[in-house]
Amino acid sequence: MHYQSIVVLTGAGISAESGIRTFRASDGLWEDHRVEDVATPEGFAANPALVQNFYNQRRQQLLSEAIKPNAAHLALAEFEARFSGDFLLVTQNIDNLHERGGSQHLLHMHGELLKSRCIATGQIYEQTTDIQVNSHCACCQQPGYLRPHVVWFNEMPLYLDKIYQALSRCDLFIAIGTSGNVYPAAGFFQEAKSHGATTVELNLDPSQSSTRFDIQRQGLATEVVPAFLNEIK
Ligand code: NAD
Ligand code: APR
Repeated sequence: MHYQSIVVLTGAGISAESGIRTFRASDGLWEDHRVEDVATPEGFAANPALVQNFYNQRRQQLLSEAIKPNAAHLALAEFEARFSGDFLLVTQNIDNLHERGGSQHLLHMHGELLKSRCIATGQIYEQTTDIQVNSHCACCQQPGYLRPHVVWFNEMPLYLDKIYQALSRCDLFIAIGTSGNVYPAAGFFQEAKSHGATTVELNLDPSQSSTRFDIQRQGLATEVVPAFLNEIK
């Protein structure tokens, strides 16, 4: 089958073999932290130090030498470089492993760990150091105005217009390493399907909606992603 337009959605599972914990696994991030405390605007208002520390630790981990793109990130970038049709990679991940792997058309719908944002102006900054509760933003010079540039629960994901446009015209949609628990991303396969796309899930465990995908492969991302992309190239 020759596809003309492909949208790929990735989740925490694609970065698991690079050493970044997923959210919902038995050893996942949400086992140690209450989502409401560290990943909501209300949690940030109640205890900014706790939230900043949670993301500071994750940022430091991402910047450590041990964390690198894996074979699944690399396979997606190589596939994109060779593919002659439209290709869009949408990630829920806030790490930078897709871009380090060489992906070009990439949207971070849940934000980026290596960026911060002023809560007053919305100005976005590169952020490789810890954010302290009294860190100043360069735009307002106000302490406490910098937050991680990540999308929390109860906030609107980024780039949704572009994403739905791409979903409406794609003929292949591939979900990789996502449990399908978090909307709107969890509904993307249905949107693509309603416009006639073939839908594929590549995941370690069956997701919430596994049986409703046209094609489903279970396994490690570093194995199933290169294998599937090789089949359709
Ligand atoms: P999730 O934790 O909800 O789901 C991870 C999925 O990957 C699960 O279905 C799991 O079964 C699967 N998985 C785990 N290990 C796997 C493996 N070795 N091989 C194949 N599949 C495996 O993650 P999600 O759906 O991506 O959650 C999305 C949210 O989690 C995003 O908003 C993101 O910001 C946040 N998050 C991001 C990162 C990251 O940036 N790397 C990491 C954890 C969570
Ligand atoms: N290869 C492939 N899939 C994997 C791997 C792997 N090596 N490891 C884990 N997975 C799969 C798991 O089976 C699981 O289905 O990745 C999925 C991860 O699911 P979640 O931890 O729920 O992560 P995700 O779906 O990305 O979470 C969505 O929830 O917490 C919020 O905003 C956060 O973006 C995140 C969103």
